[in-house]
Amino acid sequence: MGFLSDALSRIKPSATIVITQKARDLKAQGRDVISLSVGEPDFDTPDNIKEAAIAAIRRGETKYTPVSGIVPLREAIARKFKRENGLDYKPSQTIVSTGGKHVIYNALLATLNPGDEVIVPAPYWVSYPEMVALCGGTPVFVDCTMEHNFKLQPEPLERAITPKTKWIILNSPSNPTGAAYSYAEMKAITDVLMRHPHVWVLTDDMYEHLTYGDFEFVTPAQVEPNLYERTLTMNGVSKAYAMTGWRIGYAAGPEHLIKAMDFVQGQQTSGTSAISQWAAVEALDGPQDHLKVFKKAFEERRDLVVSMLNQTKYLKCPMPEGAFYVYPSCAEAIGKTAPSGKVIKTDEDFVSELLETEGVAAVHGSSFGLGPNFRISYATSNAALEDACHRIQRFCGSLR
Ligand SMILES: Cc1ncc(COP(=O)(O)O)c(C=O)c1O
Repeated sequence: MGFLSDALSRIKPSATIVITQKARDLKAQGRDVISLSVGEPDFDTPDNIKEAAIAAIRRGETKYTPVSGIVPLREAIARKFKRENGLDYKPSQTIVSTGGKHVIYNALLATLNPGDEVIVPAPYWVSYPEMVALCGGTPVFVDCTMEHNFKLQPEPLERAITPKTKWIILNSPSNPTGAAYSYAEMKAITDVLMRHPHVWVLTDDMYEHLTYGDFEFVTPAQVEPNLYERTLTMNGVSKAYAMTGWRIGYAAGPEHLIKAMDFVQGQQTSGTSAISQWAAVEALDGPQDHLKVFKKAFEERRDLVVSMLNQTKYLKCPMPEGAFYVYPSCAEAIGKTAPSGKVIKTDEDFVSELLETEGVAAVHGSSFGLGPNFRISYATSNAALEDACHRIQRFCGSLR
């Protein structure tokens, strides 16, 4: 009998973390590396939020909190859903966890039984399938091709639903593609879900505030109010408030599900950091001016990267609506030979040769379930992005 749990054999390491570490190792060896692999804003947490945390420490808010979160934060979350999404939730229908990732994990742990299926549109955030597998469920992938801007289409969704389907995980704007669903696109999906009342919706709205141009964000329970009773709407402060290290995510949904998640959390973490929760109250209730600054910077970077990549031999890069990722195709580079003499057979070969040859770290699409593509995070300075895109152009130009 082995010492380690069999559950570990069901999961893979995060490709994003592996590549970010490889880039760090190369940097430590003195190589000039530009890392476009990390998924966090390069901005600092706004000062008003930091001050709220410092004030909470000074007031002595340094003890355990109720498992589901402090009342002022649960009230602020309820207000946020009403104000921004037109959704009515009582504070008792909300829960605060240690990052958005932990919210999803709690929801799956509280609901999945062996054999339960979870529909995961691909490309997907690397953690969804692994979390489903760790909780004993089976991820069922539905390909969302570049032809459809990486968005789930109603027919393949309908075909993927079986009597065992428990959840579908939706993520708009998406990590890794940046694709976001318009009202009409979301309605086409919710129309299918209305025909299958046993399927619950877990919507990961983590990038809600990072959309560009005149795109208008929508969330499933807002588009189809009849789904309210079987939707868990997840969100968090990590991306929109540059608070990745504070570890605060939250969700709202039917009270019986929230209670089950509270039950799980009570035997896991006992609730997340009191200080971070007070900071999150300020994030949600305080001034939102920083968002305009973040959005403007990200939009400029998106436009720069998409334009430069589309001027690159063998690459095609769709223009995403949100988040801080692009997901270009490198299909035309497959079969070509890199300067090292290695033939590029997969998108993983492409990113690995790119890192070795030009010192640019990106993440291969196959780790997100759909390739041959690669993900670039543009949450870094314009100068670094321009340099990185020039290097990618040089690398592609050198393929024979
Ligand atoms: C789509 C998506 N959901 C959730 C998360 C996790 O957020 P948190 O850092 O709050 O756990 C991420 C982080 O990369 C993400 O990209």
